[in-house]
Amino acid sequence: MEPPPWSLLEELGVGLDLGSVDLGYGWTKGSPRLREAVADWLGGVVDAESVVVTAGSAEANLVSVLALVAPGDTVLVDMPNYMQVPGLLRLRGARVVEVWRRPEESWRLPVWSLVGLIREARPRVVFATNPNNPTGAVERGGLWEVAQAAAEAGAVLVFDEVYRGLELEGGLTPSVLEAAAEAGAEAVAVGGLSKAFGLPGLRIGWAAATSRRLADRLWAVKDYTTISPPRLGEAVAVQVLQPSVRGRLLELNRAIVVAGLEALREALAGLPVRVCEPSAGAFALVDVDGVEDTMGLAEGLLERGILVNPGECFGVQGYLRVATGLRGRARAREAYRRLATALRGSLLGES
Ligand SMILES: Cc1ncc(COP(=O)(O)O)c(C=O)c1O
Repeated sequence: MEPPPWSLLEELGVGLDLGSVDLGYGWTKGSPRLREAVADWLGGVVDAESVVVTAGSAEANLVSVLALVAPGDTVLVDMPNYMQVPGLLRLRGARVVEVWRRPEESWRLPVWSLVGLIREARPRVVFATNPNNPTGAVERGGLWEVAQAAAEAGAVLVFDEVYRGLELEGGLTPSVLEAAAEAGAEAVAVGGLSKAFGLPGLRIGWAAATSRRLADRLWAVKDYTTISPPRLGEAVAVQVLQPSVRGRLLELNRAIVVAGLEALREALAGLPVRVCEPSAGAFALVDVDGVEDTMGLAEGLLERGILVNPGECFGVQGYLRVATGLRGRARAREAYRRLATALRGSLLGES
């Protein structure tokens, strides 16, 4: 059994006196203390007034789409991607231009194609996920090229950075806000406590903007979505984001993912599959040699009690996305052993 996330907080010395939490509506933009803590996590490039706290990063993505994109607007979208934003953009009636990452380029953000498209298509907004889900690729230096092009074209950059802090190599991913501030571009960094921090039940996310004016456009939409962030979540989030706590929490989560990835590699050795090494995040894409119908493969695995995402969910047929963030080494090893046994049956006909 996986220990509940709360035990992790106890380990870190984070407590919550329920009696002291005011359960009226909170600040609709998020409490000043939490907005300051988020601004600090983002390296102080923006101030607390430019941060809007949301119910999870999913809400930050939603308000970004609703506030910044009108029907018929041209927008660029990083692909493959967590599919919330592409889906919302279609619902909004935007003209969506997909910008595809390629396996032969280690799934890196195709910076030069993106810059070219920003110049040619003059999009209203560019949406990307960095570190990327599902590929685990991280873009660093290229952010400055993209921000420069966005500044020249008047495009707003909306980067989902919910996996920032869960890097397996290369240190902390720069926020798009750093590059945008230097280039004079407008940008929104979406983040939250669900992924790198491993606390999705708090439902705390945020959208941080390069200016207070831009943040206020997002805030105005939030009145129509959830009014104010969850106050219990906010009370814990303020403590979790203190530098001494967040550093230890990120270290713990990184150790979980590193061990998970190692166990996955070991379990899959000898099978006709290749683990695409992620640079960040809590997933690995697994290239399944010679198999086109990974949806069918994943359905077969599900019948055996094993849940992995088929690449078809992200537009990358032929791959499986496997979670690496299982807590407990023994638990992770057992899960991947079962996955490997099932794959051996499906791919090699061994029972
Ligand atoms: C890239 C990305 N953004 C946003 C979300 C939504 O997360 P939450 O609303 O829990 O912060 C997810 C969840 O899987 C995700 O992978």
